[in-house]
Amino acid sequence: MKASAPGKIILFGEHAVVYGRPALAAPVPQVRAQVDVSESARAGIWIDAPNIGLRAELEALPPDQPLAALTRNLLAAIGKDPHPDLQITITSTIPVAAGMGSGAAVSVALIRALASALAWPLSDEQVSAYAYEIEKLHHGNPSGIDNTVVTYARPVFFVKGQPVQILDVGAPFSVVIGDSGVPAPTRESVSDVRRLWESDKGKWEAVFDEIGDLARKAQAAIEQGVWKTLGTLMDQNQALLTQLTVSSPELDRLVSAARNAGALGAKLSGGGRGGNMIALVEEGAGEKVATALAAAGCPRAIIATIEAWPQLANRPVPATT
Ligand code: MEV
Repeated sequence: MKASAPGKIILFGEHAVVYGRPALAAPVPQVRAQVDVSESARAGIWIDAPNIGLRAELEALPPDQPLAALTRNLLAAIGKDPHPDLQITITSTIPVAAGMGSGAAVSVALIRALASALAWPLSDEQVSAYAYEIEKLHHGNPSGIDNTVVTYARPVFFVKGQPVQILDVGAPFSVVIGDSGVPAPTRESVSDVRRLWESDKGKWEAVFDEIGDLARKAQAAIEQGVWKTLGTLMDQNQALLTQLTVSSPELDRLVSAARNAGALGAKLSGGGRGGNMIALVEEGAGEKVATALAAAGCPRAIIATIEAWPQLANRPVPATT
């Protein structure tokens, strides 16, 4: 059984979303994690993940290894004992430690492939919940936005602990996603922001409020298709992320290069400190901005279109069992 899941970008609201403010995220189908689960002639459950140099039998892996933890959680929940002998093969084109949800996408694809190999129906809500447990191993204190957007594979308006809402996209729009080339684990930036917040909760709660307001205004701008406003909101979000100390010289350089090349706005996306940035571009301007990013040292740029889902807009997603 094969399953795959897309990468993701955070459009607005990273970090503040951990503290209960709204955030917007979108899938990036150009990069994907893929998992193949098949019955195996070899005894045991073998996990093969060539991208991270992993080839091991489940029993040999430690309890906090995310892939092993997820496989064990699922097998325990499915409750088929003895389990069939299985070969699990995991591949991914999503850059690791780049703010593009690679951990969440691998989890979601693994959950879906293993569940269908063992004929165990799962709703999207359940898939996201299992992936969230593993996000805690990856990130310590995740909001749940990564597993949510990757599971539903649609643009989302997300508030921690609330049912997911599909973002109403008035018209398709394009962003250029630029890799800073600097790997930066989300766990570290999230725990640094926590230390900052603990040092002066009043000050940083006010910054989170401002970021949350920007995310709400961005939701309205995306619904109405007012791209200049959306670009300005991105720039404002970037300024607040810089205050939160999660930008970096490399990200700042790419953000400036994108703006100078005509992007309507630009900001880091995800945990920051490295990883990726995004730039909002007018139709047809993506290549020019991508070229400017390459000249500023960006090793890889993706032009992504955020699509409309009008039929489901602003309604909680129904469970699909
Ligand atoms: C990571 O994609 C977004 C962060 O806000 C962390 C989280 O929400 O768990 C930085």
